[in-house]
Amino acid sequence: MSITMSSVYSLAFSSIYCWRERFVATVPFTAGGTEREMRTGGMLGLILVLVVAESVSIAHANGLRYAYYSRTCPTAERIIADAVRSHFQSDNTIAAGLLRLHFHDCFVQGCDGSILLDSSIDGSVVERKAIRNNNSIRGFEIIDDIKTRLEASCPGVVSCADIVALAARDSVAISGGPFYGVPTGRLDGKISRASDADADLPTAIFTAAQLKANFNKKGLGVDDLVLLSGGHTLGRAKCAIFSDRLYNFSNTGGPDPSLSSSYLTILKSSCPQEAPSSGRDSGPTVALDKGSEFKFDNSYYNNLVNGNGLLKSDAVLKDDSQTKSLVSSFSANSDKFLWSFVGSMIKMGQIDLKTSENGEVRIKCNVYNSAGH
Ligand code: HEM
Repeated sequence: MSITMSSVYSLAFSSIYCWRERFVATVPFTAGGTEREMRTGGMLGLILVLVVAESVSIAHANGLRYAYYSRTCPTAERIIADAVRSHFQSDNTIAAGLLRLHFHDCFVQGCDGSILLDSSIDGSVVERKAIRNNNSIRGFEIIDDIKTRLEASCPGVVSCADIVALAARDSVAISGGPFYGVPTGRLDGKISRASDADADLPTAIFTAAQLKANFNKKGLGVDDLVLLSGGHTLGRAKCAIFSDRLYNFSNTGGPDPSLSSSYLTILKSSCPQEAPSSGRDSGPTVALDKGSEFKFDNSYYNNLVNGNGLLKSDAVLKDDSQTKSLVSSFSANSDKFLWSFVGSMIKMGQIDLKTSENGEVRIKCNVYNSAGH
């Protein structure tokens, strides 16, 4: 592990910046818990200097740096945090949307903002229109708003891919999760293909083996799979995505036996079989993390252990021989989950980065530069 003093300093600076942010924040942390919890989160930010130190050398190797915009756009992270906070105040579900947006960005064409594009330089149907994204992935208008604010202060400096990564970080924090420094300096891509999204994004019916292979293809390990699945501590899923588990699991005509009976009852009442099916694009939704959908915490793992995992792809993690011990350890130890989640987020945020050859800093997040300017 090679870490220079300046990297540690940048990371420490970044963590302290986040720590300070938390204290100056004016938003009532409706979902984020008490002031004591906020202080704990702040301290955690400092401790994370050590936890994520290993990622620093990687960050330097691929051109990312902590506090990358400190000279070119010193207010960038504050502008993003303020925007996330103001959107969150009017709709606290956006934290989930923004966290997922970063995941779907990174897994398809790398973390390059390709999920945001309305058109692709090669004429392909874009990622956001893919079956696995369409009418499901959200947060685009928030990213556009943030970009407008940034362009007013520092035109042409902050990439859309970095905005997505930082907005995901702020979403975790505002939901009561840890603050952490995000290495920045990503470039935006010009290619966005629905076919890539449908090939590269995992689905809710993947087996543990499929999930592991899917993450492995992106350079992520089994631990990253279990940790990042913990993102399902926030947000909701449509009944249509998992209702086979309630009524006709694996064509048995009955429910998935791995669901607890009390959870099955709750889910059946939220997702009645006779409800007019509006397909996978709309219809009722259910919290991915029963009882704690707005709070970034380890209750997702407690739910898995107790047979209350909503998606089959969540539930399988508690039974697979390689993932089950991780699930029980994150269920038992909240701090361990929170610290380790940060490490996996930083790792995910470095998948297949664009270079100056194939990347740019977009002026508008939904169009590559030569298309719109
Ligand atoms: C491991 C494989 C994963 C699968 C199969 C999966 C699948 C899904 C599905 C099916 C939904 C519901 C979509 C809908 O109803 O329209 C969802 C929602 C969500 N996912 Fe995942 N996901 C995975 C990993 C992740 C990761 C790595 C993160 C972030 C680190 C994440 C964050 C979220 C969030 C926050 C939501 C709620 C979104 C909202 O409420 O708008 N997921 N996921």
